[in-house]
Amino acid sequence: MDGYSSNDISDVVEADRAHVWHHLSQHKPYENVDPRVIVEGKGMRVWDARGKEHLDAVSGGVWTVNVGYGRTSIANAVRDQLIKMNYFAGAAGSVPGARFAQRLIEKMPGLSRVYYSNSGSEANEKVYKMVRQIAHKHHGGKKWKILYRERDYHGTTIGTLATSGQAQRAAQYGPYPDGFVMVPHCLEYRAQWDVANYGERAAQAIEEVILREGPDTVGCLVLEPVTAGGGVIVPPAGYWEKVQEICAKYDILLHIDEVVCGVGRTGTWFGYQHYGIKPDFVTMAKGVASGYAAISCTVTTEAVFELFKDDPTDTMSYFRDISTFGGCTAGPAAALENMRIIEDEGLLDNTTAMGARLMANLHALMDKHAVIGDVRGKGLFCGAELVADRGTKEALDEKRVQAVVADCMAQGVIIGATNRSVPGLNNTLCLSPALIATPDDIDQITDAIDQALTRVCG
Ligand SMILES: Cc1ncc(COP(=O)(O)O)c(C=O)c1O
Repeated sequence: MDGYSSNDISDVVEADRAHVWHHLSQHKPYENVDPRVIVEGKGMRVWDARGKEHLDAVSGGVWTVNVGYGRTSIANAVRDQLIKMNYFAGAAGSVPGARFAQRLIEKMPGLSRVYYSNSGSEANEKVYKMVRQIAHKHHGGKKWKILYRERDYHGTTIGTLATSGQAQRAAQYGPYPDGFVMVPHCLEYRAQWDVANYGERAAQAIEEVILREGPDTVGCLVLEPVTAGGGVIVPPAGYWEKVQEICAKYDILLHIDEVVCGVGRTGTWFGYQHYGIKPDFVTMAKGVASGYAAISCTVTTEAVFELFKDDPTDTMSYFRDISTFGGCTAGPAAALENMRIIEDEGLLDNTTAMGARLMANLHALMDKHAVIGDVRGKGLFCGAELVADRGTKEALDEKRVQAVVADCMAQGVIIGATNRSVPGLNNTLCLSPALIATPDDIDQITDAIDQALTRVCG
């Protein structure tokens, strides 16, 4: 597996340096250091262009490769499907598209329709368009506003950035379209209210925004079940019950963005399933096919779907949307096999067990390192917020947070940190190993963090 050191691919690195514009990256340093090129992956591990092995604690960097690298059964399923039928526009159905939709809906009681596209941003945009069209068709133009939450993220397009609760993601790309309104975050560690029932209070803040805007203007509320890039925020007890109640009270559709939590990450198929809530829309992308093919899904209830076929005589009354690559069959073919693997290998249970181990290890690190102010998470989706002072909760300087990440990388363990997200609060280490993680993998991850914190923070 370390054959790359003997296979010189320096030409690849040079081609990358000369021509590839990397995501989320300042490129000036690449004039002096090599850009990182990942060459091969197997299970939990990846190898770079120099042949160096890394344990990947972030599933491909961004919570994606849920079933791990090197899955030949997914590659074979995709290969077989591509040879038989690679693509036809989504106005027609496909065999894997129909089969995966059926299998998915079996896991999502109360929901019934799957709309395919190819990124999380796009899946979320579909909801925003549906909400707007419902407003036009069924509310006389009212109920057109979409509420989103501070610290949440829903994508990179202008439309989804209009719902970015992370100021640094949205900055410099505006102006944004009207009708997107922010509600306060629910992270109790950074409390905005001094109350005992924090979850309920944070949800009440949503109601306050609805009343301020006017309930007849608000059509939808979009929330991450557990906020990911905004700092791994698990809503406090009582939050979701109240959110559901508020949505019902004001006839507001509830859109749950499962792009990160979806398909096993938190130990259930979907994050919202921990909380007994009944969404009207669920969107998903990253873990649906673990990055073996691009696929995203916008899933709705039959009631929402019915709103788009109520008047077949009106030539404008259906959802007039297309996603060219939503018709690629590789996505649902990979997703079917991905789902089979999760079921046959018991990966939901493994996620719950390994998530508990990861959380216990992080708590032990917190006892040892005062720089850890808070640890949070659900399943194999955890965060550790680093602070300069536990009493004041002053965030640790971002450079030192990045130094911890770099130290782990030098040890051969890839971890993440919140990045160009909330100004002054890019201080949470992010951990999201693949759902196949073993106890040894989990311990290796936290051992690396232990050493890094000792070196960087003393
Ligand atoms: C919660 C959430 N929603 C949506 C997206 C956007 O997904 P994509 O990058 O596939 O467009 C992301 C990406 O990180 C995300 O974390």
